[in-house]
Amino acid sequence: MVNTAQKHFTEEKQHTKIKHKLFRATLDTSMSIANGINYSKKETKPYTYIDLYAGAGKFKDEHKGSPLLALELFEKYKDKNKRTFSAIQMVVAEKNEENIEELTKNINNEKQVLLLDDLLCTFCSGSWETHAETLKNYIKSSQWGFVFVDPFSLELNFDNLMELINQSPYYKDILILINKSAQERVLGKINEPDINKLCNYFNISENNLKRLFDFVKSKGGSNETVVQHLIKRSISKLDKDYVINAAITRTRNGKLEDSNRFYLCLITSAIGVANSFLEKYAEELEDKTLKNNNMQLNLLKTSPITKYVSLEEQIVNIIKHENLTLFELSKKLYNVFLSWKDSDGTEIPHRQALITAINNLINNTKIIILNPEKAKKGCISSKTNKLLSKALTTKEDAKSVILSLYR
Ligand SMILES: C[S@@+](CC[C@H](N)C(=O)[O-])C[C@H]1O[C@@H](n2cnc3c(N)ncnc32)[C@H](O)[C@@H]1O
Repeated sequence: MVNTAQKHFTEEKQHTKIKHKLFRATLDTSMSIANGINYSKKETKPYTYIDLYAGAGKFKDEHKGSPLLALELFEKYKDKNKRTFSAIQMVVAEKNEENIEELTKNINNEKQVLLLDDLLCTFCSGSWETHAETLKNYIKSSQWGFVFVDPFSLELNFDNLMELINQSPYYKDILILINKSAQERVLGKINEPDINKLCNYFNISENNLKRLFDFVKSKGGSNETVVQHLIKRSISKLDKDYVINAAITRTRNGKLEDSNRFYLCLITSAIGVANSFLEKYAEELEDKTLKNNNMQLNLLKTSPITKYVSLEEQIVNIIKHENLTLFELSKKLYNVFLSWKDSDGTEIPHRQALITAINNLINNTKIIILNPEKAKKGCISSKTNKLLSKALTTKEDAKSVILSLYR
């Protein structure tokens, strides 16, 4: 039998590159926001990066895996004058014996190359669940941090993960790879023994899963609807503002498919972190359009009006029911399942797209800002009355702007 845990690391596939780009952008912003807040509060709280499915650290083609990509980002904070963190800590867990051996070598080498001598790295050999107490202690003792959860398929129990993360209500950002197509495949054979794996993943009894399945089907839903419901149900136990499920595809015969195979699920309460993730996702989707259409579609879509049409429609549809702060609007737009297959990047509500869309709607007298005089300084231009990017930089800024339909 092929050993997936090692075969995976022979080369970095195209979809893995996309995952790594999103991972890098998100971790980078998470650290930079934490560093900035420490600085403004004159604090020195440490930053802890936890990689629960760490892998081998490197692919045989020399591309870096998540732990080594994280080390590259830590390098920015090597100079103690530039960083506020009293320490940067890294905890990696890896179940496969050969992979943990490789990982230990790779991390120790990279630490030397990057001169990260004072980085504290804890290696957890074996499945992360067997190290739950150690991991909980790291989370309890560290306000700032990032957890990366990157299993191949169904080797996760969401409730165990939620219990771990819930050790600290503040603990910052979590990125989880969810193998949606593996889950849908199991649902396609709901009476076969593999159903147990899905029950264990979502902590649901076989009976309840079958009842949910029948209910969704009776309403015309699909296996994807069942999966989305189970994901929402599992994550609802966390008290975080944003849960963004961005679909990514897989690589088939060296090419990216036009399909939604995985969800990369970002859980965060930081607008800035959500924004970086969405910006990178939109960039990857725009790149996809470019490749698939020999640039033609993209060239046609460069006008800002065309570009943000569907996002504008979404905003009007949300605001028509009630007046909302920009923060509430961002929650409604971000807490969704985004499609790789059906998107070209223009509907992704990252900061600049959202600000442009709102300003277009204000220009076209579709919506208004209810209380411009109460908005925080720098959120609205005093000359043009337009919304500025700062309005979506912190929660306080976003809460100070109220939007209403123009009546
Ligand atoms: C997709 S790979 C991780 C890739 C890595 N995050 C990267 O970006 O390079 C999944 C890894 O998780 C490991 N694994 C599977 N179950 C695990 C568990 N319960 N605890 C820790 N590691 C596990 C596998 O051996 C495999 O190396």
